[in-house]
Amino acid sequence: MKDKVVIITGATSGIGKALAFEFGRKGSSVVITGRRSELLASIEQELKEQGVAVLAIPGDVSKDEDTVAIIEKTIQQFGQIDVLINNAGISMRALFEDVQLDVFRKVMDVNFFGTIHCTKHALPYILQSKGSIVGISSINGKRATPARTAYSASKYAMEGFLEALRMEVMKRGVHVLSVCPGFTTSNIRNVALTADGHPQGESPRDESKMMSAEETAEHIYQAVVKRKRDLVLTTQGKLAVWLTKLFPVLMDKITYYVMSKEEDSPFK
Ligand SMILES: NC(=O)c1ccc[n+]([C@@H]2O[C@H](COP(=O)([O-])OP(=O)(O)OC[C@H]3O[C@@H](n4cnc5c(N)ncnc54)[C@H](OP(=O)(O)O)[C@@H]3O)[C@@H](O)[C@H]2O)c1
Repeated sequence: MKDKVVIITGATSGIGKALAFEFGRKGSSVVITGRRSELLASIEQELKEQGVAVLAIPGDVSKDEDTVAIIEKTIQQFGQIDVLINNAGISMRALFEDVQLDVFRKVMDVNFFGTIHCTKHALPYILQSKGSIVGISSINGKRATPARTAYSASKYAMEGFLEALRMEVMKRGVHVLSVCPGFTTSNIRNVALTADGHPQGESPRDESKMMSAEETAEHIYQAVVKRKRDLVLTTQGKLAVWLTKLFPVLMDKITYYVMSKEEDSPFK
């Protein structure tokens, strides 16, 4: 990855921030994005202090014009794109019967259409470099959970998109990787949207028992280097995916039970 140009969306926190440091330390030039411009600038500064070639471009991936600007500014600065990591994402937590449709749309706009916008505009350059397109999906892209209908749907949509795109570009030297992290320590559960669109404020799970964002980033880095097709993380995550394939009905019951034990579960 030395001297490669890597775009990471949603790099102001969690897995995206850890990826920026992981790729930067290994010698890649990194382009970092996110909506919180001040936070993004301070991360850019931290990376520069570690000797990383970095460009921060504030932007909202759900706005197509912002993603056009991210790609154009990357090309102006570095002249090429080798890896696009579609990482920006938000979650939600509410029963479908309660959730406002705007919340559902917002989750799809960021997680799914954000991936579509960035990939669409970066693709001509990635075809030239024969590089990698990475989607940070989720175990929820292979095993849905209740009270996460919009989130699960957005990740299943990402999975379908990545699988179809992989076949379109496979004879042209482009690598497409789907990453399904398991529970990873980050900000995602604090800012997850409730039924009326407000962030829930705190995580309903014990974040200390999860894989760290840094370890997740190391696995993703290795999967990009090895040009893997899929990466499923955590023992619990792998188990959930396999049990879903083998015993889907049983897994519906187990998943319901596990999620109903979360703090302040919305189940009735
Ligand atoms: N943590 C987990 O347990 C877990 C498990 C499976 C999958 N994932 C996936 O991993 C990815 C990263 O999540 P995380 O856990 O690291 O969460 P996080 O700490 O909340 O980070 C999410 C990042 O996405 C950015 N973002 C959100 N909305 C955006 C928008 N409209 N435009 C641009 N950037 C936006 C945020 O930046 P700004 O707020 O500055 O925009 C932030 O940098 C997500 O796709 C998530 O679904 C996470």
